[in-house]
Amino acid sequence: MNHPAAPPDSSTDASGGPAAFGWVALLDLTMLLAFLVLLDPGATTGFVLHEWLGLAVVPVFTMHVIISWDWIVSAWRRVRTANIARVRLSFLLNTALLAMMLVIVVSGLVISNYAMPWAQQRGVARWEQLHNMTSSLIIPVAGLHLGLNWSWIRGAMRRYFGGRRGAARRTET
Ligand code: HEM
Repeated sequence: MNHPAAPPDSSTDASGGPAAFGWVALLDLTMLLAFLVLLDPGATTGFVLHEWLGLAVVPVFTMHVIISWDWIVSAWRRVRTANIARVRLSFLLNTALLAMMLVIVVSGLVISNYAMPWAQQRGVARWEQLHNMTSSLIIPVAGLHLGLNWSWIRGAMRRYFGGRRGAARRTET
């Protein structure tokens, strides 16, 4: 998935303007951190918090997809009309990520002991296997996704933090 083009300065606020762009980067960073923590509940949050955090990621992920929607639509058009390997690979990866996230969340709900125990279904062991296996498989896919969007991420960091520092310096003087 891709994002709106990075605006030149992160110190102003207007709808869709630089400050809004900063929020997009912050949203993605929050999701990445939550995702890393979710990958090892035994060593990080424990299982009660794991379930709640997993549920909390759902609206954040949905926002991420909504924000990227224009890119998704234009990529879908380009996938069909242009034979560009990078666009195809990126689109394939994003579709795989979306499907895997759905599998992880749905299987998570089915095996939930604390957040939604009433959603638990028979054959929990199979669903646990699916949940754990998909959570392992998603790591390289998410890594490639980050790699393909790396220049956007680097630009976002530079503009967000650079802009903040610039704004702070401006107010100091
Ligand atoms: C992006 C979201 C999620 C990720 C990446 C994720 C990842 C993982 C991973 C890697 C494990 C294996 C832990 C281990 O074996 O030590 C696990 C276990 C588990 N997860 Fe999630 N999870 C997510 C969301 C959820 C949600 C939403 C729920 C329930 C509401 C949930 C419930 C569970 C439960 C009950 C286990 C224990 C399964 C077992 O005993 O084998 N997870 N999860």
